[in-house]
Amino acid sequence: MNITITENETKFDTLAAWRIIETILANPKAVIGLSTGQTTTNMHRIVAQIYQQHPFDVSKITLFPLDEITNISRQYSGSCYAMLKNQIVDALGIQDSQFLAPPTVSKDFGCECRKYEAALAAKGGIDLLILGLGANGHLGFNQPGTPFESKTWISKMDEVLEARIRKETNTTPEKELGGFTLGIKNIMHSRKIILAAKGIHKAEIVEKMLFGQITTDVPASVLQLHPNCEFLLDAGAAKAIAP
Ligand code: GLP
Repeated sequence: MNITITENETKFDTLAAWRIIETILANPKAVIGLSTGQTTTNMHRIVAQIYQQHPFDVSKITLFPLDEITNISRQYSGSCYAMLKNQIVDALGIQDSQFLAPPTVSKDFGCECRKYEAALAAKGGIDLLILGLGANGHLGFNQPGTPFESKTWISKMDEVLEARIRKETNTTPEKELGGFTLGIKNIMHSRKIILAAKGIHKAEIVEKMLFGQITTDVPASVLQLHPNCEFLLDAGAAKAIAP
C-alpha cells in the first residue's frame, strides 16, 4: 500500500499541490478531478501561487469537480463550481471548455449524469483524481451503503450538510437538494488516485479505510483494491496507524 505521511499540515498541502503540478508537467493534456472541502482548499491555493510565480502550460489540461450540489445556484459560494473557480480554476486561467463542471439545475439529471461520463470519456478518462475523505468514510457524495458498482448519480444529501446549505441558500423544503457525484465505479477507473486526509478527526476513519474490511459500509475501503492509489496523510490523520 502506498501511504505517505507528512510531518504537519503545511507539508501535506505543499506535497499535494506538487502532485497536481507534477501530473500536469508530465502530461500537458492531463484530466484531473478535484475535491472541495477543508482538506483540499490550501493545496489548490498553493498550486495557484506556484503557477503565478512560475507559470507552466495549462492550456490543454481539463479540471473537473468530483461532485456538486444539485438545485442550488452555481454562484452560491458553497457550490463545488464556485469553490474551485475561486481556489484554482480562475488563477490558472482555465477556460470554460477546460473546466467540466456538472450542472446544478436540470430537468433530467439522469441524462446529465450519462452526458457527464461521456464528456470525461471523450477527454480520455481521468488521469488523476484527488479525493477527500468523509468522516464516515464517504467519497464524494457516495455515502455508506452505496454499491461499488455505482456510476455517476444523484445521491441523497447528508442531513447535516443539507440543513446548512438550505440555510445559506434560503432553499425551501419543497425543493429537493441532492449530490451529483461520480460513482464508486467511475472513481475506481481513474488511472491514479490520491486520497487526501488531514487532521486528527480523520484518524479513526483512516485506519478503517486502510486496514478494515473492504465494505460498502466504509466506501473509501474500496481504495484498498485500486492499483495506483496514494494515501496522503498528515500526522494527525495518521495518528491511529503510525508507530
Ligand atoms: C464532502 C464533499 C467531498 C469531500 C468531503 C471531505 O462531503 N462532498 O467531496 O471530499 O466532504 O470534506 P473535508 O475535506 O471538508 O473534510
